[in-house]
Amino acid sequence: MTKFIPREFIQELLNRVDIVELIDNRVPLKKKSGNNYFACCPFHTEKSASFSVSHNKQFYHCFGCGAHGNAIDFLMNYDRLEFPETVETLAKQLGMEIPRETRMPEKQAAAQSSLYDLLESVSQFYQKELRNYPRAIDYLKKRGLSGQIAKDFNIGFAPAGWDHVLKNFEKQKFQLHDAGMLIKKDDGGFYDRFRDRIMFPIHDKRGRVIGFGGRVIDQGEPKYLNSPETPIFQKGHELYGLHQALKANRQLKQVLIVEGYMDVIALFQQGIQYAVATLGTATTPNHLQRLFRYTNDIIFCFDGDNAGRTAAARALQVTFPVMKDGVQIRFMFLPDGEDPDSLVRKEGKDAFEKRLQDASSIADFFFQNIMSQTDINTTDGRARFVKLATDELNHLPDGIFKQMMFEELAKKSRTTVEQLLQPKKPAATPSVTQKAKSPSALRLAISLLVQQPELASYLKEPLPKLDLKGYDLFLQLIDIIHQNPGLNTATLREFWRDKPEEKLIAKLAQLDHMVPEKGIEQEFLGSIERLTEIGRKQTIEHMLIKASQSGLSEEEKLNLQKLLKIQLFES
Ligand code: UTP
Ligand code: MN
Repeated sequence: MTKFIPREFIQELLNRVDIVELIDNRVPLKKKSGNNYFACCPFHTEKSASFSVSHNKQFYHCFGCGAHGNAIDFLMNYDRLEFPETVETLAKQLGMEIPRETRMPEKQAAAQSSLYDLLESVSQFYQKELRNYPRAIDYLKKRGLSGQIAKDFNIGFAPAGWDHVLKNFEKQKFQLHDAGMLIKKDDGGFYDRFRDRIMFPIHDKRGRVIGFGGRVIDQGEPKYLNSPETPIFQKGHELYGLHQALKANRQLKQVLIVEGYMDVIALFQQGIQYAVATLGTATTPNHLQRLFRYTNDIIFCFDGDNAGRTAAARALQVTFPVMKDGVQIRFMFLPDGEDPDSLVRKEGKDAFEKRLQDASSIADFFFQNIMSQTDINTTDGRARFVKLATDELNHLPDGIFKQMMFEELAKKSRTTVEQLLQPKKPAATPSVTQKAKSPSALRLAISLLVQQPELASYLKEPLPKLDLKGYDLFLQLIDIIHQNPGLNTATLREFWRDKPEEKLIAKLAQLDHMVPEKGIEQEFLGSIERLTEIGRKQTIEHMLIKASQSGLSEEEKLNLQKLLKIQLFES
């Protein structure tokens, strides 16, 4: 809904909030030097204080775990809120009103909130019904569930019959239909979707009921029936058990992804209170991204049979695009014929957790999986192995993890990383000067700008024309700063939220360029001068190539002479 909060409002919000005060209220800060504050990092366990907060930049950064961001990022991560919720919270705190037209239309918002309330009531209805049906209670007992765990997970029962829910909530039948609880008949009437099933309410992470899974007691198809997608239930986002796991743990050291409702519940009952299940769908990158908000360690749990291996290989592909530095994903395989539910009840918490420690790293599983498809003892096989692996590895975001994977591949295929990367490089065109060589001037210029946007006012037009990786970002940055006077690091950061350059900007925001306060302006202009110089060289080189290939016009010749003169003069 609030995707459409206007940027100006967010800027204003960030200008009014003070990140030092905001964080200090939750994590007491110590003043270090100037306007910098320190504390032990709330996002990882540590003994010495590596978490720093800058008043000037309105930005925080942990030198230990790399966590960083502005006030919004802090709240999102610390209070585990989504972006719109965070903005709402801050706005409320500051007594600011989010511009009206951008909110979800009143009616729609009311309708949604009433769907949550309605499903909560239906869930209570099912729980009440459970007590009336010994057959259902016996089934749960037979599966080893305690009364307590049934309560913790709000398990209920939908009696046989076509209209229990319909009759009980007659007045809200249209909403019930919207929420997926009723099916419409040809004559326009409705009947209950869930009949004669054990009911597992599905909660969002805040604990609101958003849907149900229903299991048959005896035989019957389908074994599990799930709510359809509705305005409040999206299967690709939600994870069964996440709410309970968050409630049980202040911090989630690790999260186990299992297949089924009963797996989550049985594990929880045995004391493993950090398992979640996808809801009758495969794991999506979105699921993983959500989980990475709470933990850095995700373990997939699969059956030991072939189906399990296939599922694991599929999961591997989903994980690659979201693998960022500092997170870990592992793969665990169960003995044939077992699922987490059966295994944990058989062997208990400790033995099961021991198995977690033996889970394969993503690297091990990845190479093992590809090696099982190729024979690396022959040259052909090695070539195929390298091809299969590089095709996959190229999907990884740049970073240490990618680098390590390539190093491992080089070792396994008895080649070097340089050789592996070779075919990726474009064919050697006449070298465009400095293309790869001089990122440092640009890096410095961008990082100084991100840290002190007001530096942009020292720039003189026209800016140099350059063919340099990252130069577009630099120009974009300047444009944004010119068009939005008064930006600081924190407010500037918002322009890249959820954009591919987000990480780079954050990194440059905390890059320590070692330039003393007084020399910053000079250093900045110096970096621009170096960029201008590179631009000049590039133009000269282009023109020389053109001269040798198709010749230059009179005007171009004059231009070239002028450029060469400057270069002579300056070097
Ligand atoms: P399984 O068939 O492996 O069952 O489904 P299970 O979890 O071991 O269930 P129990 O132990 O027999 O009760 C795994 C998961 O796949 C989804 C459900 O989310 C289930 O928990 N599923 C399965 C469905 O959505 N529909 C089905 O018909 C079957
Ligand atoms: Mn099972």
